[in-house]
Amino acid sequence: MSLATIADACAMRPSDTENALRTLRADGLAIEENNRNEFCLREPGSPMDSTRLKNALHQSGYLPAGRFELLDSVDSTSSWLDRQAQSGLSIHRFACLSEFQSAGRGRRGRHWQGAPYKNIMLSLGWEFSGSANTLAGLSLSLGVVIADGIQSLTGAPIRLKWPNDLWCRNRKLGGILVEAFSSGSATTRAIMGIGINICPPGVNPLDAGYSVTDLTSECVGPVPAREEIAAAVLGGISERLERFLFDGFAADLKRFNELDIFFNEEICLSSAQGERIAVGLGVDESGAYRLNTSDGEHIINAGELSLSLRDNSISHTEARSQEL
Ligand code: BTN
Repeated sequence: MSLATIADACAMRPSDTENALRTLRADGLAIEENNRNEFCLREPGSPMDSTRLKNALHQSGYLPAGRFELLDSVDSTSSWLDRQAQSGLSIHRFACLSEFQSAGRGRRGRHWQGAPYKNIMLSLGWEFSGSANTLAGLSLSLGVVIADGIQSLTGAPIRLKWPNDLWCRNRKLGGILVEAFSSGSATTRAIMGIGINICPPGVNPLDAGYSVTDLTSECVGPVPAREEIAAAVLGGISERLERFLFDGFAADLKRFNELDIFFNEEICLSSAQGERIAVGLGVDESGAYRLNTSDGEHIINAGELSLSLRDNSISHTEARSQEL
C-alpha cells in the first residue's frame, strides 16, 4: 500500500505517517517497505476491538464488577495502574491492557518486550485486607489459573516453571509479575502484571537469554482472538482473587505440582556460589520450592530470591513494594 493511501486513511501528513510506520517497525511490527515507498504488513494482525473485548469480559464474568482500560501504547500497564493509585484512585478490580509497552517490566528488574498487536500485556489491580504476608503464593495460584484457562481455551499444553513463568514445550510462553504495596498491616494493594506471547515476535526477539514461544506456534488449530484470551485470563484470575484470602495457595498446591516442569526432574541450580544439580520435589504450602540435593532437602524461597524494594512516593505513607 502506498504511503499516500495510508496517510489518507489515517488523516495524517505523509511525513508523519512515514515516521509512525518506522517507529512501529522499530518496536517490532513486521512492516516491509519496497523501493517505491510502499508498505505492507508481513503478517496479518489487528488491534484489539474494545467492543469485542467488553463482550468477552462479560462472558468470562470479569464484568460487570470489574473495570478496564484498553490503551494503544503505554510505558507499562503495571506502572499505569500504580500511577492511578498514587493519584488517589482505587484500582481495585481495575485492569489495564495495552497493545504496546515502551518500558514493560519483568521479574527481578528485567525488561519485558513485546511487539505491538501480537501479545497480551495486561495488569490487574486488587486491594486486599491484611498485610502482604497473607498473599504468600498468590503469583503461583495465578499461574495455575492462567495455565489451566489457556489450556482449556486453546488445547495447548501449558506448564509452569517455578515461580512465575508460563511454559509450553520447554519454552517460555509468558510471565507473571505480582507487586504488592503495603502501607502498614491494614491493607495491601496488589498489581498483577501478565504477559502472554500470542504471535511470533516479528523483528525483535521477545526476551533475550532463554527460548520463547507463542500460542500461535503451539496450537494445532486457530488461536482464539486476543480479546477472548485476555477475557479468559481476567475472568479466571478475578474469580480466584475473590477466594484467595480464604483458601490461599494451599488450594492450588496439588495442581501447581502437576503442572511443574521441574517435578521429579534433574535441574541445575545456579547461584552466586556456582551451579549444583538437584531433583525437583515441587512446592510447599508457602509456595517455596523443595529440592533434593546431594546433601539433603533444600527449600528455596522465591521471595528471598526476588525481593525488590523501591521507593514509592505515595504522599503520606511510606509504602513498600515487594515482588511476590
Ligand atoms: C516475567 O516473566 O518476568 C514477568 C513478566 C510480566 C510482564 C507483564 S506485561 C504486562 C505487565 N506490565 C509490565 O510492565 N509487566 C507485566
